[in-house]
Amino acid sequence: MTGSDRVMFRCHGCGAEVDAALAAPFRCPQARAGDDVDHVLAPVEPAVAWPSIAEVDPFLRYRALLSPYRLARAAGLPDGAWMELVGTLDARLAEVDGQGFRATPLAAQPALAGAAGHAGALWVKNETGNVSGSHKARHLALVELYLRVAETARLPAAAALAKRRLAIASCGNAALAAAVIAAAARRPLDVFIPPDASPAVVERLRALGASIRVCERRPSEAGDPCFLRFLEAVAGGAIPFGVQGTENGLAIEGGRTLAFELADGLRAAGVRPDVLYVQVGGGALASALAQGFALAAAAGVIARAPRLVAVQTAGCAPLSRAWSRLGRDDLAGAARRRGRYMWPWETTPHSVAHGILDDETYDWWAIAEGMRATGGRPVIASEAQLHLAQALAAEAGLPASATGTAGLAGLLTAPAPGETAVVVVSGLDR
Ligand SMILES: Cc1ncc(COP(=O)(O)O)c(C=O)c1O
Repeated sequence: MTGSDRVMFRCHGCGAEVDAALAAPFRCPQARAGDDVDHVLAPVEPAVAWPSIAEVDPFLRYRALLSPYRLARAAGLPDGAWMELVGTLDARLAEVDGQGFRATPLAAQPALAGAAGHAGALWVKNETGNVSGSHKARHLALVELYLRVAETARLPAAAALAKRRLAIASCGNAALAAAVIAAAARRPLDVFIPPDASPAVVERLRALGASIRVCERRPSEAGDPCFLRFLEAVAGGAIPFGVQGTENGLAIEGGRTLAFELADGLRAAGVRPDVLYVQVGGGALASALAQGFALAAAAGVIARAPRLVAVQTAGCAPLSRAWSRLGRDDLAGAARRRGRYMWPWETTPHSVAHGILDDETYDWWAIAEGMRATGGRPVIASEAQLHLAQALAAEAGLPASATGTAGLAGLLTAPAPGETAVVVVSGLDR
């Protein structure tokens, strides 16, 4: 591979660079426990024309914008080889979960806007029908495609990945997505869950062939015990198959496909989005959307990225806390003093939107960058607003969990009269 077609990732915290052919762009290689740097690897973007092809599978349609595709081409694989990798995954996803990836519905919801008291247009991207019932599969499909490219092209990076198990800490939509993709990819997966995980989710994970590891809280430990056990597994060689960008830069990149579809869908409808409300737990979704919309705006697909409003619950709002502390601080400097802004939420949170109770917003930095760039901010939705948003969405035919409609609760919290608002509804209500 020559210098110009190398596929590089760079850490926004320390500037370390990773050549994705030589080493997997998962965790920043310079990350050290306690170094107080916000390490996340993101692809270095080459100048690429926005794709105008019509495929409905986002991993085909947006392939030119995806680093594993560029890696495949740079390693000498033909375009058809990528089509085959994606096509095989798609067929196996259909066997395992009934469907592969397709552009998800985007529609104006005037009745829902009215019911929510929003005097303006409201566009909803419905991810409840996506692979495994949420947008989470987008994040992890790109990790799987990277693994396949590395193996198929026999890249040097593949040697360290061979015969490794996948690992994730989650007991919700991310775990379900990981288990569906791991089953389709025929890779072994360990899922680290708390003792009180939903029995229905655990049963589905087992049915998909995942190995369940129950993690008790240890008195001396701060932070999520499942995440700590997951980190230990990764330190022992497992492939990080979760949706925290800190552990796997590719997972964030996979989520950008949602913004790409949104930008194209809004353009096709002749709509200029003013404001985007996004539910935030670990922060992968909002950071992927921020980056994806920034790329779409830079490519002229939309005039400018919508204002990013990040929605958390009163029970657990580490992003809001970080944003207040950030004030006008320089973002590059903040990435080197992470602990001043982000640390685990001290109290055990409760909310009907339990999927966004991550005790740290792992990907807070890229969200802060997106909010700064677009004039956005975090908001806190009350429990009443979270309940109401879920009920209104259900009435509008959007059967999502309260976690997955928390973006809509953000609109209730912070109205945007006369503006065109966009929300992502995700996480099928089970
Ligand atoms: C349906 C749904 N929406 C949004 C989120 C938030 O995503 P993130 O953790 O990337 O902030 C989650 C997380 O579990 C989710 O399940």
